[in-house]
Amino acid sequence: MSKKTVALLIAAALATSSFAQTKEKVTKTAVASQSKMDVFVNNLMKQMTLDEKIGQLNLVTPGGAVTGAVVSRDVDNKIKSGQVGGMFGITGADKIRKAQEIAVNNSRLKIPMIFGLDVIHGHRTIFPIPLGLSCSWDMPMIQQSAQIAAKEATAEGLSWVFSPMVDICRDPRWGRIAEGSGEDPYLGSQIATAMVKGYQGDDLSKNNTVMACVKHYALYGAAEAGRDYNTTDMSRVQMFQNYFPPYKAAVDAGVGSVMSAFNEVDAVPSTVNKWLLTDVLRDQWKFKGMVVTDYTSINEMIDHGMGDLQQVSAKALNAGVDMDMVGEGFLTTLKKSLNEGKVSVKQIDAACKRILEAKYKLGLFDDPYRYCDVNRAGDIFNASNRAAARDFATRSAVLLKNANNILPLKKSGTIALIGPLADSHMNMLGTWSVSGDFENTVTVLQGLQNVGGSNVKIIHAKGANISDDTAFAKKVNAFMNEIDIDKRSPDEMINEAVNAANKSDVVVAVLGESANMSGESSSLSNIDLQPSQKKLLDALKKTGKPVVLVLMNGRPMTIEEETKKADAILDTWFSGTEAGNAVADLLFGDKIPSGKLTASFPVNVGQIPVYYNHKNTGRPYVKGGPTKFKSNYLDIPNEPLFEFGYGLSYTTFSYSAVKLSAGSITKTGSIKASVTLTNTGNYDGEEIVQLYIRDMVGSVTRPVKELKGFQKVFLKKGESKEISFTITNGMLAFYDSNLKYASEPGDFKVFIGGSSATMNEAGFELK
Ligand code: BGC
Repeated sequence: MSKKTVALLIAAALATSSFAQTKEKVTKTAVASQSKMDVFVNNLMKQMTLDEKIGQLNLVTPGGAVTGAVVSRDVDNKIKSGQVGGMFGITGADKIRKAQEIAVNNSRLKIPMIFGLDVIHGHRTIFPIPLGLSCSWDMPMIQQSAQIAAKEATAEGLSWVFSPMVDICRDPRWGRIAEGSGEDPYLGSQIATAMVKGYQGDDLSKNNTVMACVKHYALYGAAEAGRDYNTTDMSRVQMFQNYFPPYKAAVDAGVGSVMSAFNEVDAVPSTVNKWLLTDVLRDQWKFKGMVVTDYTSINEMIDHGMGDLQQVSAKALNAGVDMDMVGEGFLTTLKKSLNEGKVSVKQIDAACKRILEAKYKLGLFDDPYRYCDVNRAGDIFNASNRAAARDFATRSAVLLKNANNILPLKKSGTIALIGPLADSHMNMLGTWSVSGDFENTVTVLQGLQNVGGSNVKIIHAKGANISDDTAFAKKVNAFMNEIDIDKRSPDEMINEAVNAANKSDVVVAVLGESANMSGESSSLSNIDLQPSQKKLLDALKKTGKPVVLVLMNGRPMTIEEETKKADAILDTWFSGTEAGNAVADLLFGDKIPSGKLTASFPVNVGQIPVYYNHKNTGRPYVKGGPTKFKSNYLDIPNEPLFEFGYGLSYTTFSYSAVKLSAGSITKTGSIKASVTLTNTGNYDGEEIVQLYIRDMVGSVTRPVKELKGFQKVFLKKGESKEISFTITNGMLAFYDSNLKYASEPGDFKVFIGGSSATMNEAGFELK
């Protein structure tokens, strides 16, 4: 499509848009550009053959395996013959330009391709894993992380990212908990919105914004037994109340695309689930963008028992899928299905149109090489992006314990830096960092050296393998040798570490998971520290030196024993490119920890699923239980080891009692709920003040607490501030058994505090 043709089409569109003159200016512009797009796309589609339309629905890889079988073959010729709508799995302005040239110079209608990639927590500059970022509760920061990722990605030819992943998860056995924002629908929705805004900005056609893809729609995080790709099964009330909100928030924020999940929803796999993809997504939520499948998920419907490739492809199209990721089910069977009356031209046209509209909005028809500017290399992995990565990592870490204020450390004396993750470049980035360069990461050893200064002596020893289990290591090391089993015996390594500890003032033990022990296809039935590391920690403890545990992990772990043994625990997740510098900033107190957990840490795996917004039951748990004939365990408490919203600082905060501006509200009114927050410790610091509400009586049972607001507040030491929230009727609404979303009059409790365990409460009535 030449620029001239585009200009003519636009002129035609403007000439015919008579109604636009009577509208407000903003509406006028929106309507005009919508109708310009309509005219353009409709005109283009009139020139397309059926095969070319079906070709647009085909998303291919250049040939390398990503997360499953490779179906794409003979890609060049397919592009030339108009059988490819988009590609994913390549990056680089020059490479993508070359691929785009094949489409633009050699295909009949010269329709540009769209180029997507898994840009999940940064592109070249890697930020903390999404679960880590979520612990910052910092929306401007999260938005900025997506903005930087978009800038880097677009400087390398990409126009589409397969993010944000917003699957609510209550089960840390599921490795992909690392990619999401934890267990809460309210916080998850805020983060989904921030990510979409960060990626897409206010104009998709700018050369530094990308189309986002919210995934995995839907309920992927509720896989039974935490086993990846497994069945999900839940009530619709549960879906709408707790699992759908973040996807909907992304849609409301204008996300350009949605990825259908691998799992089934209500006994129908997501990718062929019309109720999910059309009735809810398009009809109820008014989603106007395109739906892409997950990797080969149309083909996987065969194993789900939904029919052969032709049947499942037809079902997927009829359900509302527009683009087939890698499977080529659409490409190879839709024409036959059309001839047999199993799909309609209308369906194929609708899917094709949505894909062309996405390309139009991205500006690809104006300039297919919009994102292929080789002169933008300076936008990638530059000092400012790295500085942001370091800052974001300090704000994402969560201080879980700090006995006797052992932290922050002094910038003098001797530190024994021990552990298999203390100097492991390969494990700093965490899962799904496909374009990250692990060699260019900062390890904790390097960070302590950079930040500690010349008065700190560091003695480093590996101390243990991440795991001694060779069979396990082989599975985890599918992509790279991240569990590197040492030639030395475990005892030799421990002896070296103990000697180092004996010569030190304090031990910093960097333990946890390797990068891909969490992530896709990394479910675990046991989320303890590996035995090799437990043994190391025991030996370090026996030296009598204070032990600071720096945890690297992609999921909540069961660390009850370690919590008793370590004097301090700083959970740093996988913090990305600048991991080591950020950890050192925190350990030495140049930065003060402020993160709070967004997923509960269970006492043991038997407690899973454990989440704060649970129901009360008819035989509620009595704190301090077990009590006979109550809903509790005989062997452990119901409370998790660390609850949602928990996190310490080097300073301390106190909360006054909750004050309400009135004892009741009407559905049109509001109440102000406030507390006085005081920084009672010795450092300036930030606190995440959390507002929870409980509906005491409902037509369906209601959770014991639900997060409804939060504020991140900075206070100087000794400073106090009134923090207030406005409670309105909208915050009290919920889904009843008929899926009607409304509030019900009655009594409510309001809690304001520093974690979901707060009992700082007051009550009001909704009239
Ligand atoms: C994952 C998606 C990802 C896709 C493409 C799949 O296996 O589930 O999250 O976007 O692969 O790489």
